[in-house]
Amino acid sequence: MPLSQRSTLTQFLIEERRRYPGASGDFNALILDVALACKAIARSVAFGELGGVTGNHLAHLPATQATAAVASVNVQGEVQKKLDVISNDMFLRANEWGGHLAGMASEEMAEPYAIPANFPRGKYLLVFDPLDGSSNIDVNVSVGSIFSVLRAPAEVVQGQRKLTVEDFLQPGTEQVAAGYAIYGPTTMLMLTVGSGVHGFTLDPNLGEFKLTHPDVMVPADTQEFAINASNSRFWEPPVKRYVDECLAGKTGPRGQDFNMRWIASMVAEAHRILMRGGVFLYPRDTKDPSKPGRLRLMYEANPIGMIMEQAGGRASTGRGPVLQVQPQSLHQRIGLVFGSKSEVERIERYHDEPLPLKKADFETPLFAERSLFRD
Ligand code: F6P
Repeated sequence: MPLSQRSTLTQFLIEERRRYPGASGDFNALILDVALACKAIARSVAFGELGGVTGNHLAHLPATQATAAVASVNVQGEVQKKLDVISNDMFLRANEWGGHLAGMASEEMAEPYAIPANFPRGKYLLVFDPLDGSSNIDVNVSVGSIFSVLRAPAEVVQGQRKLTVEDFLQPGTEQVAAGYAIYGPTTMLMLTVGSGVHGFTLDPNLGEFKLTHPDVMVPADTQEFAINASNSRFWEPPVKRYVDECLAGKTGPRGQDFNMRWIASMVAEAHRILMRGGVFLYPRDTKDPSKPGRLRLMYEANPIGMIMEQAGGRASTGRGPVLQVQPQSLHQRIGLVFGSKSEVERIERYHDEPLPLKKADFETPLFAERSLFRD
């Protein structure tokens, strides 16, 4: 299709809105502000070293505590990259003024951000990870921004009470919209407003997102999986079983060979899976008992979960739909498995089923060479 005939993100949103005659236009304006933040982040990412934006963000400690600047860490205890901080600021500045939001929450901020008093308050909440996979920035690998839109409680919108952390703690099923921007060879915005998933490519000449991937569907079957195998000694038995069976390939119980990928940038993995299928696992493991999983529920698992489900895939904790989990805290971590439906369902089944007995299970002391049960 010639480029000029493709609809822009603005046109797409207006056409969607026509299906809801009562809609005020606030939602569309919010998504366009989010898209503006993503475009600004895409420019910063593209300039890399030339823009002086690579490397760690430095916190300048008081002279009594340190003589030199040290890398700052976020609420998760992770070193912040310069671009993490810049991107967070771009999201705040692009979205605080428009009157569509009652508040924002981000991976990079310990507490929610209430809309400053000089701006009008709106009816939505925006939750985001401004730069997912940011450890990849310095090595020029794709990174992205993830966002989730929720409704703010009526009392907050009407100014009867202040916004609280609890207002954000809504299960993923309550999301009004979710999406991500991926800053790769091209910049793309993948968006769901609850009627499928649609992909827009940033036209660098016009600075506009254009609809290039309408109604994206994740193939139900796949022969590709993604997991950080360096954690295998910490995996729970159902995950180990699943990966072992994939690795066994044609000669194993699955009877087919599998391919493996690990980019360490969830947005990039999610994008590959949306485009050609696959399954991603960052499961609950025993690595650090204080962290039930690596990824964050509110601004990673929930938006990616909504996108996957809207594209006909599935998103799970390994035990059940991730979108149904009631969040307990803003920065809660969770085990996450998403992608092609039949593989995610298989992994859930493995969590339900008793483990199949393997030869090694019989090699316990009772069955060992000199045991009573051997002659
Ligand atoms: O924010 C989390 C993240 O960067 C994801 O994008 C990615 O999937 C994961 O961490 C990578 O984790 P690891 O460093 O354990 O491979």
